[in-house]
Amino acid sequence: ESGGAAFHSADLGIIGGSGLYAFDGLQDVTEAELRTPYGDPSGPLVLGTAGNRRIAFLPRHGRGHRIAPSQVPARANIYALKSLGVREVISVSAVGSLRGDFAPGDMVVLDQLFDRTSGLRPASFFGDGMVAHVSMADPYCGRLRPLLERVAAGEHATVHGSGTYCCIEGPQFSTRAESEVFRSWGMDVIGMTALPEAKLAREAELCYAGLALVTDYDCWHPGHASVDAQGVAEIMEANVAAAQRVVMRFAETSRPASCGCHRALDKAIMTDSQIIRGG
Ligand code: ADE
Repeated sequence: ESGGAAFHSADLGIIGGSGLYAFDGLQDVTEAELRTPYGDPSGPLVLGTAGNRRIAFLPRHGRGHRIAPSQVPARANIYALKSLGVREVISVSAVGSLRGDFAPGDMVVLDQLFDRTSGLRPASFFGDGMVAHVSMADPYCGRLRPLLERVAAGEHATVHGSGTYCCIEGPQFSTRAESEVFRSWGMDVIGMTALPEAKLAREAELCYAGLALVTDYDCWHPGHASVDAQGVAEIMEANVAAAQRVVMRFAETSRPASCGCHRALDKAIMTDSQIIRGG
């Protein structure tokens, strides 16, 4: 959006996954088309107010779901949110279940991540003269997780307070052999988009929480048909209002706070800035 003295800002970012392409219920809504050094984000950011918080909403796959998981401009998306002033991000996604007690329709507040992407996605803001190694031991913010779980439990029938997300490259779903291996490794849910988003959020010193909506049993469950995209879309459609309510309640009941996530780079930089080369 062009314009005068209007200056966009937000403190809570929401990245919407499959099925969550718009965000109802925001007040004073405006749109911002941002450019970043990493290209354009997935689409225009929708800015609005909920409770005392300024929200920036961004649909990960773009409007109409045109961006494949491997092509999501995660660096531009995180950069765009950061540049608006965002300090906390809730990442909403559709996932398959790798365990019998996580059923389609359930929500999971994620606590761990396993990277099964194929290394093709640009996954760092660093390199080119500045080397940093952030900790990913706990990829999801330990302060936001219990808040999000509490709000979700108040709005939705079945909410699991932890879960390990296995992020595959896609766009194909997994083979049954892969699905069984992921299960044997202790993975709880499977998706295609949590990475590199979570790594980039950490490098950008943002608090990052993951709200996953279970849409299917992948392909391992003898009592259920293997996952297909239409089934994922149908379950998401049936649950998207609940996901929106959770995020809205979170926005209305939480307040910005300082957090260790905001200091993620404190002990992460390897490059010695005292050494000046050349001359
Ligand atoms: N997203 C939703 N369900 C999925 C599955 N079974 N595998 C990968 N990504 C998914």
